[in-house]
Amino acid sequence: MDKIYIAGNWKMNMTFSAADDFFAQLADYLNNNGSKKVETLIFPPFTYLELATDTAEETSLSIGAQNVSDHNNGAYTGEISADILSSMNVEYCLVGHSERRQYFKEDNSLLNKKIKKLRNFFIKPVLCVGESLAEREAGKAHEVVIKQLEKCLEGIEIDDDLLIAYEPVWAIGTGRTATPQQAQEIHKMIREWIAEKYDLKTAENLPILYGGSVKPSNLAELMTQPDINGGLIGGASLDIESYVEMLNMASKI
Ligand code: 13P
Repeated sequence: MDKIYIAGNWKMNMTFSAADDFFAQLADYLNNNGSKKVETLIFPPFTYLELATDTAEETSLSIGAQNVSDHNNGAYTGEISADILSSMNVEYCLVGHSERRQYFKEDNSLLNKKIKKLRNFFIKPVLCVGESLAEREAGKAHEVVIKQLEKCLEGIEIDDDLLIAYEPVWAIGTGRTATPQQAQEIHKMIREWIAEKYDLKTAENLPILYGGSVKPSNLAELMTQPDINGGLIGGASLDIESYVEMLNMASKI
């Protein structure tokens, strides 16, 4: 796979004017120096989706939402449906980020429903998986990730419309990155599991992103691993200079 995804997950950050400023600078960069090789993807808070999709219309930028309801439209105050996201030209959506699993008690069966809702509206789910520090230290990283995949993808056929992000919980926002070898080992295992459950072609075409304290100083060594197809980046995606630096680096890999 030639493409490298540089995906920024803004989480609950940025004011409207900061987001506006970020997208203006990003549009300028993409229209003048953007590379076809790099899939530039931002997951802003819901409130900035229109700003983001307006930018996407004029550039090569792609936009994703950070969450979706497992329900159809209706009386679910505060929730956002796949139908609403689709009407806003949202192309991707995170599912099962560890912060949603941990703080909002989202479990694998709920995530399975969310994936199905998204696919009804042709929005690409980015399924996040990853083990906690205790699970890694107990030697259970492989087992935990496989279980998440099995449960979240139950009854789901995939072709080129799903992405997976491996985000070890202990590396998120901690400054502690998985070594390229640790990340590669899990990515390879995920690809092998997909090959076994689906087929080789699906596995080869599946983008698997790594997330957890990715920044300009460690991007290159992670992204050059054979089974890492991009980064899902939190903190370092909030600053336009560091984000553009990573886009530039990815274009040269
Ligand atoms: P950080 O890059 O801030 O560690 O966040 C990673 C992440 O959770 C992206 O979804």
